[in-house]
Amino acid sequence: MNDVLAYLRANQKRFVNELCDYVRFPSVSAQPPHRPDMLACAKWLVAHCQNIGLDAKLCPTAGHPIVLAKTPRQPTTGRRHFMVYGHYDVQPPEPFELWKTPPFEPTLRGRSLVGRGASDNKGQNLAHLKAVEAYLRTGQELPCDITFVIEGEEEVGSKSLAGFLKEHRAELRCDAVVVSDTGIPAKNLPALTYALRGIAAFEIILRGPSRDLHSGIFGGAVENPATALCRLLAKIHDAKGRIAIPGFYDDVAPLTRFERQQLARLPFQRAKFQKFLGVPQLFGEHGFTPDEQRSARPTFEINGLTSGYQGEGSKTIVPAWARAKVTARLVAHQKPARVIKAVHAFLKQHCPPTVKLEVKSGHGAEAYLVSPKSADAQAALRALRSAFGCEPVLLREGGSIPIVNQFKKILGADTLLLGLALPDDNAHSPNEKFDLDLFAAGQRMSALLWQELAR
Ligand code: BES
Ligand code: ZN
Repeated sequence: MNDVLAYLRANQKRFVNELCDYVRFPSVSAQPPHRPDMLACAKWLVAHCQNIGLDAKLCPTAGHPIVLAKTPRQPTTGRRHFMVYGHYDVQPPEPFELWKTPPFEPTLRGRSLVGRGASDNKGQNLAHLKAVEAYLRTGQELPCDITFVIEGEEEVGSKSLAGFLKEHRAELRCDAVVVSDTGIPAKNLPALTYALRGIAAFEIILRGPSRDLHSGIFGGAVENPATALCRLLAKIHDAKGRIAIPGFYDDVAPLTRFERQQLARLPFQRAKFQKFLGVPQLFGEHGFTPDEQRSARPTFEINGLTSGYQGEGSKTIVPAWARAKVTARLVAHQKPARVIKAVHAFLKQHCPPTVKLEVKSGHGAEAYLVSPKSADAQAALRALRSAFGCEPVLLREGGSIPIVNQFKKILGADTLLLGLALPDDNAHSPNEKFDLDLFAAGQRMSALLWQELAR
């Protein structure tokens, strides 16, 4: 093991250069003009895996290709098999003008590497590859078999991956999946995440007049769909931040005392948090701490609100329609379809007869919740403890990784979520960065993890 750790220590400079090469690909899955960049990035990954000594190939899909790479298999029977999942696609970099350095020109700033995808998720999945490289290059036997699945559609809903898992079910069958695509509260607080929120996406559209109308000639005699939508949306939360939709909380699993104690261990400074977010004051459901609100309670978030004229200057109209794009984050054991049904019924009841209501449902995923007390979870905690040299925390996280539910359904495998992103990594925002000390710690954690999981 010492050889493996020494190898990692000795090669950090090269690893950082390789991460730069990886980040340089503008692998934006959402934007069709980047299709060739997606393919180039996947090919780079395959070549990189082959270089390390993995049996790697590119697997085309109806969408972006999936990279499949396996460690050389050992004939020993009874060896455990783990899958490492990650994604090479990144969020769109816009707005460009807010980046201090170009998003696809990775730049060192202190102990961080700045670039789109550095943290979400290239740096995190490369850390696992580097750990395996250390074993293979030092001739140290890997204690388990490992299969890497690195996809290119995570940021757009992983549309091809479930089919891929089904198709490769036999070879992907594993004891557990390891994913580093979540966060840790601070550099000295490594974490095992045992819960993620689910999601239900939908759009609410109100239609009024058959076309935009002159607001001077007709305004006052017709309902303005924008006003009607605002009135409707204002009814969603009560003054205590609770969602007022009947049935919305029906299936919500309450937080246990143990969980509240774990969350209360996290360092939290209200003033600092407010300043970091740039808000004059925090707001959330009464009776819960901000860490509880943003990880273990469901939400109803308006992601976009559109109606009428958005151009320069003014335009005097009564708009024909108004639309809200919404995602509700869900917790165990809420069902996306049931939530959307409850939302729809509520909107229908409160929608005035002066406009027509349409609710379009989009993607959805259930929350993920797994016991942090399993033998594998304990193994992961031991790996975190020795890689970081401090006591790890157990986390519930507010983000979603919908595919982890499919790992359970299709492969029968639980997921160990061992994220390396810091809260200020600016994931999905301008100036995304990845901490290079955490890159190194992640490699150590991964190297130690295989020992602990095989024990
Ligand atoms: N890495 C994130 C998920 C994440 C972030 C989990 C922070 C926990 C903490 C992932 O890349 C992501 O952004 N997922 C989307 C999924 C959605 C589009 C269905 C999300 O959570 O918004
Ligand atoms: Zn993301």
